[in-house]
Amino acid sequence: MAVRDTSDLPDANIESEAKYTGLAMATEKTFYLETFGCQMNAHDSEKVIGTLQQQGYRQVESEGEAGLILYNTCSIRDKAEQKVFNRLNDYKKLHKSGKRFGVLGCVAQQEGEKIFERAPYVSLVSGSASYRKLPEMLVRLEAGESRITGLDDRQTDETFETEFTARQNPYRGYITIIEGCDKFCSYCVVPYTRGKERSRGSSSVLAEARRIVDQGYTEIQLLGQNVNSYRDPEGKSSFAELLAAVGQVHGIRRVRFTTSHPRDFTRDIVEVIDAIPTLCDHIHLPVQSGSNRVLKMMAREYTREWYLERIGWMKAARRQISLSTDIIVGFPGESEDDFISTMDLLAEVQYDCVFGFKYSARPNTPALTMIDSIPDSEKAKRLQVLLDRQREIQRINYSKQIGEIIEVMVEGLNPAREQIAGRSSQNKPVNFSSPVLIAPAPGSYAKVKITAAFPNSLVGEAI
Ligand code: 5AD
Ligand code: SF4
Repeated sequence: MAVRDTSDLPDANIESEAKYTGLAMATEKTFYLETFGCQMNAHDSEKVIGTLQQQGYRQVESEGEAGLILYNTCSIRDKAEQKVFNRLNDYKKLHKSGKRFGVLGCVAQQEGEKIFERAPYVSLVSGSASYRKLPEMLVRLEAGESRITGLDDRQTDETFETEFTARQNPYRGYITIIEGCDKFCSYCVVPYTRGKERSRGSSSVLAEARRIVDQGYTEIQLLGQNVNSYRDPEGKSSFAELLAAVGQVHGIRRVRFTTSHPRDFTRDIVEVIDAIPTLCDHIHLPVQSGSNRVLKMMAREYTREWYLERIGWMKAARRQISLSTDIIVGFPGESEDDFISTMDLLAEVQYDCVFGFKYSARPNTPALTMIDSIPDSEKAKRLQVLLDRQREIQRINYSKQIGEIIEVMVEGLNPAREQIAGRSSQNKPVNFSSPVLIAPAPGSYAKVKITAAFPNSLVGEAI
């Protein structure tokens, strides 16, 4: 990589160093991008990579090889945020050799220009609502500017779409259908970091679905912070209709979607899953708590009964819809009784997968003003009790599938077990052996007979 060693430059001489780097980057433009957090971030990174490549940059595998080092960050819980600052700290000495740093994503939006104070060697800070301006920001970076910000807040109406998405996942094509969030759950930073809700036109979504099927993808995952609030700006499709239309794109085999919000979840979503076989039989419906008192404090805008009614629709479906959820334990004021209500809900719903989190206070959120009186040890205890109970539920659920023959999409190899790793339509990990010596390619399908089950995965043999 052709960035010259500038370690002889004085540390404080940012101006001359920036110009110097601008020159070096003009000869060969390389970048390294590391992504933290959710699938939305993973997919944003695919779009950012495509945009950079379009601007003449080449992606490299390590910080050491890169002229531009980017971190696409997450701030949903405090540890994720700390990780970014640790990473920046680990590599800050590379700045002396002329490398430029950029912080993207939720920490960028949340901390804004404060990042320049904490890490003065960072030149670019941009939240996801400003990514459409990336080409322009890159030109300024190359010209040697050092404190470039893209910090559009909740005002933006625009979505970030590009036909140059550089897909990194070999078997699953992500498509954003809605960005931002207007829900303002009291614990959540997302409405502040990702801006207001804005849906993408259904024609554009369908065109992208067709395009990626043409590229060879057979599985699509529709993404949004709250896909159920999808409002087609073209006025053509509800979320369920869009789901149905994507499921009927010629050549598609699997369609997933995430994340759903119980408040906006409508029955027609279950009906289209029943009607269209390509729609996967899995719904992720975060409940966060089983206690109405806590749900109210969380500003979730539904009750336990409302939530269970929707679960009832899913259980009444013709297809066996697998259910998963997110739960926060130790929300400010969560009593022992509230926690027991959540445990009861687990027993009632019988999820196939639960993501459990200890409440973590986030900047700007209303819950920050509530007294976070539950000690971390108690939060950790509740989380452990919850996960232990859920493990038992899953042990039973998963073992019921022994003897079934299911379709598995291959994701890769599981070298530890010398098996092929894949996923069922229900989103359950399946590790299987095959009489064929050559491992099938990621994205191909196999029929697998389930021979054993663990609480988090199934085991089988290809037939
Ligand atoms: N503390 C703990 N968990 C949180 N989540 C969101 N915000 C917080 C927070 N402040 C969890 C929710 C959400 C998931 C993506 O992360 O369960 O559904
Ligand atoms: Fe956060 Fe609630 Fe929006 Fe989900 S729906 S992103 S938890 S504010």
